[in-house]
Amino acid sequence: MNLITIDGPSASGKGTISALVAKKLGWAILDSGALYRISAYAVQTKGINPEDEGAVAAVVSDLDIQFKTSEVFVDGVEVSDILRLESTGKMASKIATYPTLRQALLDRQRNFIHGVAGLVADGRDMGTVVFPQAPLKIFLVADVNERANRRYKQLVDKGIEANFDEILVDLKRRDEQDMNRAVAPLKPAEDAVVIDSSYMGIQEVVEAILGAWAD
Ligand code: CDP
Repeated sequence: MNLITIDGPSASGKGTISALVAKKLGWAILDSGALYRISAYAVQTKGINPEDEGAVAAVVSDLDIQFKTSEVFVDGVEVSDILRLESTGKMASKIATYPTLRQALLDRQRNFIHGVAGLVADGRDMGTVVFPQAPLKIFLVADVNERANRRYKQLVDKGIEANFDEILVDLKRRDEQDMNRAVAPLKPAEDAVVIDSSYMGIQEVVEAILGAWAD
């Protein structure tokens, strides 16, 4: 089965690395974080009470979600920019603790494997929950200061005002929430290959993953 899972914390470079690995292999990508962000967007725009777990899971079940190259459409509306907002990410992290929401997203995620040459699945629980049968599971980590630095540079490069200390505090809070939740906590699968990218360049990490796949 042509399937590589890449899990890891916020700003560990998973998105960029997944895209490069998928491109090199000619495979599709599942950006599962986008599905949680889309759920957050739906909660925020449809007037759903984010504390109401049942209502949050229900709203997601009916959404029409289309990924087109670099754009994402939800019920026909282009939402890529809204999904990247910090406020959307925060809400995503909050509702990602709901078991019923995670369950509602499970089949959508598993469906990505159908009809493609191969799949790179990027997220927190790709190797542990969504695709435990994946032949190669990567767990990508990096020092939190280094991740904060990367996120800071990313924002500044895009001309967005950013504060390093705020980013650092936020990343630590996000790590804490993702690692300590009761359902699908962020952790490496038992058979995962752990890559610490703190002092590795993007290309180096991509080569390491492609090398592990070729083995
Ligand atoms: O990298 P960043 O945390 O900013 O965002 P993301 O990967 O787009 O994911 C947004 C949030 O969704 C994360 O903070 C996680 O709490 C959650 N998530 C999850 O629980 N499971 C996944 N497979 C992917 C994301």
